[in-house]
Amino acid sequence: MNAYETIITRRSTRKFRNREVDEKLTDLIIEAGRHAPSGGNSQSSHFFVITNRELLEKLALMVSEAFRKMEVHEGMYRSLVTSITRSKQGNYIFHYGCPMLIVVANKKDYGNNIADCACALENMMIAANSLDLGTCWINQLKWLNKDEGLLELFKNLGLGEEERIYGALAVGYPDTEDGLPVRTPLPRTGNKVEYIK
Ligand SMILES: Cc1cc2nc3c(=O)[nH]c(=O)nc-3n(C[C@H](O)[C@H](O)[C@H](O)COP(=O)(O)O)c2cc1C
Repeated sequence: MNAYETIITRRSTRKFRNREVDEKLTDLIIEAGRHAPSGGNSQSSHFFVITNRELLEKLALMVSEAFRKMEVHEGMYRSLVTSITRSKQGNYIFHYGCPMLIVVANKKDYGNNIADCACALENMMIAANSLDLGTCWINQLKWLNKDEGLLELFKNLGLGEEERIYGALAVGYPDTEDGLPVRTPLPRTGNKVEYIK
């Protein structure tokens, strides 16, 4: 696949095989994230590459517990409603049981924090597709980036006082018949374009 095909065929993977991601591939993906552009070349994104199964399970429980305490209200973002509803039902694993969760943080008072993290996440998603790995953007840790328990946990993992989480990525070998990511692009019906000549 050339670079263009790798971008166009990237799709979200939400079912993963129970297999650790090869360390060399992990390094390539992380380097792709680290080579993303950043506002003013600030390079202030901070990556947490979590492969520890116990920690992944603990995070899933903490996230589900945090959502269980929330109430759904009118006009709430649909995916957030799903997270809350499924947590209350007791069957919610926000990271889909992926073998590797890459969490991206940045300075909380930096104006490009979300933009820089998004560039890093997109770079990693495309790199993973080129390496036959599946990914899915995971937003729950951003929604919960003021949750005291999660903040404490990530501070113990190296999150700075002045940093917050702005996005995450589930990564792994897709649980498909051929083990490859689904690569049929979803039709784009939104994302309007105006050509001004
Ligand atoms: C900012 C952002 C947040 C997202 N959050 C989640 C999420 O928390 N969980 C999830 O399963 N998918 C999440 N997604 C993936 C989108 O649902 C997905 O990209 C979209 O449905 C299009 O499908 P595709 O990625 O297969 O092209 C997110 C994507 C973006 C860009």
